[in-house]
Amino acid sequence: MKPFLKWAGNKHKYLPRIKELLPAGHRLIEPFVGAGAVFLGTDYNEYLLADSNPDLIGLFRTLQSSRQEFIDFARSYFVPENNNEEKFYELRDLFNKCNDRKLKSALFIYLNRHCYNGLCRYNKRGEFNTPFGRYTTVYFPEVEMQYFMKKAERAIFECADFEEIMLSTVQGDVIYCDPPYVPLSPTASFTSYSIEGFSQMKQERLARVAELVSHRGIPVLISNHKTEFTMQEYSKAQITDFEVQRFISSKASARGKAQELLALFQN
Ligand SMILES: C[S@@+](CC[C@H](N)C(=O)[O-])C[C@H]1O[C@@H](n2cnc3c(N)ncnc32)[C@H](O)[C@@H]1O
Repeated sequence: MKPFLKWAGNKHKYLPRIKELLPAGHRLIEPFVGAGAVFLGTDYNEYLLADSNPDLIGLFRTLQSSRQEFIDFARSYFVPENNNEEKFYELRDLFNKCNDRKLKSALFIYLNRHCYNGLCRYNKRGEFNTPFGRYTTVYFPEVEMQYFMKKAERAIFECADFEEIMLSTVQGDVIYCDPPYVPLSPTASFTSYSIEGFSQMKQERLARVAELVSHRGIPVLISNHKTEFTMQEYSKAQITDFEVQRFISSKASARGKAQELLALFQN
């Protein structure tokens, strides 16, 4: 089943490759869960799913606790009267001002499906600022939400930085990391999932923490672009590389093939 959110970097298409390399274990930890494609496509006994985006984790927790009642509430925003520019900016404004968890979560799904390319982008003040998407029809992902909700009975959601989550793991855990990717060129970076972005220092830190926890007997699998930088940072891991289609750029000319890798840190 596909994730119910559109999410840049969503791994649904690459699940078979990821599953081939993910070691068996009792619990899967995803410190960069995003829309949760790997969670949805695997079968561990338990999951610890984390992300630094509080709106995303807030939504998952709301769906987990309020279930069908929340799905019905979220659906009420998916009406033709809300699919125009004026209403979109009004609801985006409401989302940015709102502190009510249920309303904020429903509006997050509304924005995700009505905004440009489903991009989750914030300005420096932390306000969601992706423009209107201009879709003639908008899909409400009801069955996908129901599937996620059922599977979430086995999951715990945390809003935290990756390092804290990775260091909290114990024997029997397996970690899958899908961080914001390193840029392929200095101008190609897409780091707008959160206000802070994901610096080179954080990429280096992730590689060091992966080494550290794998020495404690907890395997770590990381996805990223294959570049000189990642090959160097992941030199202690077993590397599997492959070619993928790039979709993140809005310019058709910038779309094309890129090299991706999966780095497995395992003792
Ligand atoms: C490539 S996406 C993950 C996509 C996910 N695997 C999927 O299939 O949808 C990267 C995620 O990392 C999160 N993120 C960015 N910086 C982070 C940090 N320092 N700690 C934890 N999560 C972070 C972003 O909010 C985003 O959801």
